[in-house]
Amino acid sequence: MAKMMAGSCSCPAPLLSLSPSVSSRLSPVCDVRTAVFSGAFQARKLCFRSASLRESFSLLGEGASLLLLPPAVVPAGKPRRRAGGRSFGSCCWRAEATSDVTELNQAWQKKKKKTARDTNVMIVGATGYIGKYVVKEMVKRGYNVIAVAREKSGIGGKASAEQTVVELAGATVCFADATDVDSLKSAIGSRGRTIDVVISCLASRTGGKKDSWKIDYEATKNSLEAGVAAGASHFVLLSAICVQKPLLEFQKAKLRFESELANYGNGLTYSIVRPTAFFKSLGGQVQSVKGGGPYVMFGDGALCACKPISEADLASFIADCVTDEDKINKVLPIGGPGKALTPMEQGEMLFRMLGKEPRFLKVPIGIMDFVIGVLDNLAKVFPNLEDPAEFGKIGKYYATESMLVLDPETGCYDADATPSYGNDTLEAFFDRVVREGMVGQELGDQAVF
Ligand SMILES: NC(=O)c1ccc[n+]([C@@H]2O[C@H](COP(=O)([O-])OP(=O)(O)OC[C@H]3O[C@@H](n4cnc5c(N)ncnc54)[C@H](OP(=O)(O)O)[C@@H]3O)[C@@H](O)[C@H]2O)c1
Repeated sequence: MAKMMAGSCSCPAPLLSLSPSVSSRLSPVCDVRTAVFSGAFQARKLCFRSASLRESFSLLGEGASLLLLPPAVVPAGKPRRRAGGRSFGSCCWRAEATSDVTELNQAWQKKKKKTARDTNVMIVGATGYIGKYVVKEMVKRGYNVIAVAREKSGIGGKASAEQTVVELAGATVCFADATDVDSLKSAIGSRGRTIDVVISCLASRTGGKKDSWKIDYEATKNSLEAGVAAGASHFVLLSAICVQKPLLEFQKAKLRFESELANYGNGLTYSIVRPTAFFKSLGGQVQSVKGGGPYVMFGDGALCACKPISEADLASFIADCVTDEDKINKVLPIGGPGKALTPMEQGEMLFRMLGKEPRFLKVPIGIMDFVIGVLDNLAKVFPNLEDPAEFGKIGKYYATESMLVLDPETGCYDADATPSYGNDTLEAFFDRVVREGMVGQELGDQAVF
């Protein structure tokens, strides 16, 4: 548990949600409320307005030491967030981590001296929808890319080793099993290389319960271990914005790894990238609508919204995490350009582009609840139905929860707080799918994401 120290003051105390052990140390100064959050702690009504600050705050764990300072100490106009360390400003109170800030900055400065050509970047999950684009982008930027792949990769394991080498042109392809740390270590070691940066785009291809823990947690952790053993000092993680509200198994697995990564220490820096929806998840109805079908949506079509981002734009953002100082030791929610769109707005856009009269099919969300309920009950007797029940829950989650920054204070999603990046719009993507179909945009093995 993080240690906290409070500065003395006579102004109204901030409201904090802390574990009992922390609160006992703070009680003389602060008005301490209840609640514990995932092994760390979280400010509730403190002046931290930004969700990402709040997340960073909750990610602090063992060994971090926070100093609470009264308002007078914070000069007006001082930046509220400093890059390069676990340090957080606020508008009236300030909480500052006193852990290994200097050490981290030193490691980063050393790294910055290397050119792209001198930097060895290991990419795991290199054969995935996003991973392929990250390999392309890093090769384009001149890095030495070591792409880790399986001998049979892609959806359904359809791509051969030879095809993978062609697909990942410009990178050194290294065949290994990411679920086995020794396999990873020896594959990297056999090349006699050191690694500077690891980028993980690993993800379960099914979203099933066991597979999520095996890939989104264990295999990702293996890649961290193998990378560090080969000298890596920065780790870029492709995560997901939906882990803010973790109801699904893959989200819990990702969050566990995020937390371990953020607390790894030993001078390892990190960037945790949490993107909103991918284009592939939104293009599934283009062809059927083009063929005269209705646009299908749940509820009134406004239950959720997202700011979709293209593979190329996201890959570019991930590549920036290797060089940009303002992206180190950060949790980075990221969306594409333009405003947030509900399913109804996406459908309207599609009909407009096709020059067709809008026709919607609104499905009550209760139908999903019914199916999930039945599967959940059956899974108690037939364990092999656990995953189908989980897939139902994933479907419902995406139909009802927005892929936007969640304000934990209000419990509402906030489109304005969700940063935009890149140039590729959903409209241009729909236009391409109308002309060329969904080639390259296939969903995973269970077609849930
Ligand atoms: N879909 C969305 O809208 C959305 C939005 C935000 C965030 N995300 C997140 O983005 C992440 C990446 O998504 P993606 O679509 O790029 O994933 P993907 O296409 O399914 O790629 C997954 C990668 O992980 C590898 N992998 C899976 N199982 C493996 C195993 N057993 N052993 C070794 N490697 C394995 C795959 O290798 P193979 O090619 O060998 O199978 C592939 O390289 C996911 O974490 C997802 O949650 C998705």
